[in-house]
Parts: sequence; C-alpha cells; structure tokens
Amino acid sequence: MILPVAASTQATRVDVLFWLMVGTSGAVILLVVALLAFFSVKYRRGTRAKRGALPTPFTREIEIGWTVATFAGFLFLFWWAASVQTAIVPIPRHAMEIHVVAKQWMWKIEHPGGQREIDALHLPVGVPVKLVMTSQDVIHSFFVPAFRLKQDVLPGRYTELNFTPDKVGTFRLFCAEYCGTNHSKMLGGVTVMTRQDYARWLEGEPEAGTLARQGKAVFTRLGCAGCHVNSDTIHAPSLAGIYGTPQPMTGGGFKVADEDYLRDSIMLPGQDVVAGYAPVMPSYQGVASEEDVVKVIAYLKAGAK
Ligand code: CUA
Repeated sequence: MILPVAASTQATRVDVLFWLMVGTSGAVILLVVALLAFFSVKYRRGTRAKRGALPTPFTREIEIGWTVATFAGFLFLFWWAASVQTAIVPIPRHAMEIHVVAKQWMWKIEHPGGQREIDALHLPVGVPVKLVMTSQDVIHSFFVPAFRLKQDVLPGRYTELNFTPDKVGTFRLFCAEYCGTNHSKMLGGVTVMTRQDYARWLEGEPEAGTLARQGKAVFTRLGCAGCHVNSDTIHAPSLAGIYGTPQPMTGGGFKVADEDYLRDSIMLPGQDVVAGYAPVMPSYQGVASEEDVVKVIAYLKAGAK
C-alpha cells in the first residue's frame, strides 16, 4: 500500500485530492516529455521538416487557448484544495479538548479529566477531538499520517488540530519539524479505542482530579488568588467567567479572552493591560510551566469557581 491506512473522517478527502494532484502533474509531465521526444526526432538535424514561421492560429488562438485552459485547470485545483482545507478546519461543537505540550523530545498529553500521558494519546473512536498544542522550548510539529494531519507546535502560542478518528487501532505519531539531536526519536502512538475500551482505560488511569480542578490548585499555589479574588489591598480584575469575553484594553479597543490571551496575560502581563488597572502584575515566565498554564486556563474556562 502506498499511503498509510486512513483512520480519520477527513483522510479520504485528502487522499482523493492527493491522487488528483498526482494524476494531473503526471499527465502534464507525460505530455511535455512526449512532445519533447516527438519534436526531437522530427526536427533532428538533416530532416526535411518544415521550419518556417507558424501559421497565425498557432501563434494566437492556440497559444491563448492553452494558457487560459492551464490557468483555469490549476485554479480549479486550488479551489478543490482550499475547500478540503476549510472543511477540515471548523471546530465541531462539543469536541473533546485535549492539551498537548511538546518539549525536546517528548509529547506530553493532558486529558480534560486530568489523565496524563507521555508519547501516547488514547482516544475513543468516532468522537470529534480538538487538540490545543504548545511547546515549552522550540518548534515541533504534530504529525499523524494515518489521520492526514500535521500542525506546527510553537512556543509562546497555541495551535489547534481538529479531527475525528474513525478506525480502531494504534497509529504512529511523529515530530515533523527538526527540533534538535533527538528529533527523530520524538515518536509516539495514538491509540483509538472503542468507547467501552476507552471508558475502561480512563478508569484505569490514576485519579488526579479534572484539569480544571488541578488548575485551581495551581492558581492557589502561584498566589493568583491573592490579587484576583476579592482583595482589598491590591486591585486586580476578577477572573470569574472571563473566558471568551471581550476585555477593554488600556489604550483602547477590546481583546477576547481566549487561550492565547490568557496565556499571554500570565507570561507577558505587561502586554495587554485591562483598562482601569495598573500594570503591576509580575510575569510568571519561568515560574509557571506550560502545563501549569494549561491547567490554570482550564480552571478559568470552567468559570474560575
Ligand atoms: Cu520535536 Cu522534531
């Protein structure tokens, strides 16, 4: 088999597009090589082939015709590729959200229920998944050929991947961005299980409290509550229900409190200061790990209660 097994709902669409591209490029190459060979023979030195100027229809109508046809053909390919891409990108509502933190040289996975894995990801079949990914050092790339998915994982921001696995089995996970000495060993496996097996797997994992619950503990440990929860001495915005709401900025405008905004607010608090507050919050860079941030954001998304 040339392509890896197709194990996600969009894999077939990507494969059809892939073969269409291969077919079109192949046909173009064949045509060019065939004409090249034909003319090389026909016009080789010494033959009595006609060598004068071409008749006008060749230099005008046919020339314009093939240029326009080629342009239209490749525009069609572009449209097809874009439509496959846009069909993949939208996030299905109620997708299961899983966090991925990459580092040299491993994949750390955090499930919404608080289960953690390294270089392994367990998923139930047929359930839409949204991966929210970040790196704690350099650029990595999350690549699962069986799902026809590849997305860069960047330090300092979150990138997402959406898919629905539709085959039970274990599929290889690669890092597809050169990230240092052991890049080629930054491997893992995605195990897609039936819903019953998945439920059993979840139960077998050590109980650590949901990600949001762990986030509350981090929130307390880092002392966030000291300023952000009913404090009289230090004036800081309340964080209850902040996720997804527009925040007024010092200097005008609004920013929606999404994952990237919240992460920046923790790591680079001087960057986006909420209107009406002094820029007094210290940065938590080097204090909070990426996993701490993931947990705190989960806590804020759950309403910070
Ligand atoms: Cu991580 Cu290559």
